[in-house]
Amino acid sequence: FAEKILAGKRVVITAGPTREAIDPVRYLSNHSSGKMGFALAEAAAQAGADVVLVSGPVSLPTPVGCLRVDVDSAEEMKAAVMSAVADSDVFIACAAVADYRAEKIADQKIKKKTDTLTLNLIKNPDILAEVSALSKRPYCVGFAAETEQVLTHAEDKLTRKKLDMIFANDVSRSDIGFGCENNAITALIRRGNGVEQQDLPAQPKRTLARALIQLIAKEYTPHHG
Ligand code: PMT
Repeated sequence: FAEKILAGKRVVITAGPTREAIDPVRYLSNHSSGKMGFALAEAAAQAGADVVLVSGPVSLPTPVGCLRVDVDSAEEMKAAVMSAVADSDVFIACAAVADYRAEKIADQKIKKKTDTLTLNLIKNPDILAEVSALSKRPYCVGFAAETEQVLTHAEDKLTRKKLDMIFANDVSRSDIGFGCENNAITALIRRGNGVEQQDLPAQPKRTLARALIQLIAKEYTPHHG
């Protein structure tokens, strides 16, 4: 960036998947590689921000200038985020947090005794919604990974979680989204009672991340700067 547009700002970013243990050797998870969240952390650091990157299990190097906190489960991610987010200016939730976890984690490896096996799942905390509900809260940016009615579901999340901005991500496409080098986003920005829409076409995640950080820096300043 020609100008350090986030100089002196504290930015907390989540990235990657979470893993929800079933027994000592098995877990529930998803295909997030962490690339999008790590690219955002790198771009935010390059823009001059103090960055805390809370990451699920991924195999990526820590971007230069970021403080990285590694976690496994959604509950661990929530604890790490809640302690990092106090006094932060911007929170970007890029992690693909598992919505459910096993009600009970078996102490021993589950044996293959029956033809069918039922796992009881319970809801995980919604980290982004909890940050957004804090009385002293950072500027809150979410992602919406959707396979259908992408913009409708994204706008619903923007409203329901009371966010400032959300990046709608069509993950039904095989050329963008989970694991890919490229991504494309539609940014939905809350403007009073309305929502403004901006399309960022498919491009490498690192280039896209710089554009998203630029957009966040521009939008953030008038409200909180
Ligand atoms: O990691 P990559 O391989 O690079 O892929 C990038 C990506 C597709 C994972 C990323 O661009 C993306 O879309 N991330 C959000 C994934 C997701 O889980 O979206 P969601 O629509 O289920 O969740 C909505 C928002 O709430 C997200 O900001 C999510 O981080 C947050 N959330 C969800 C559930 C939960 N329990 N806690 C949360 O904070």
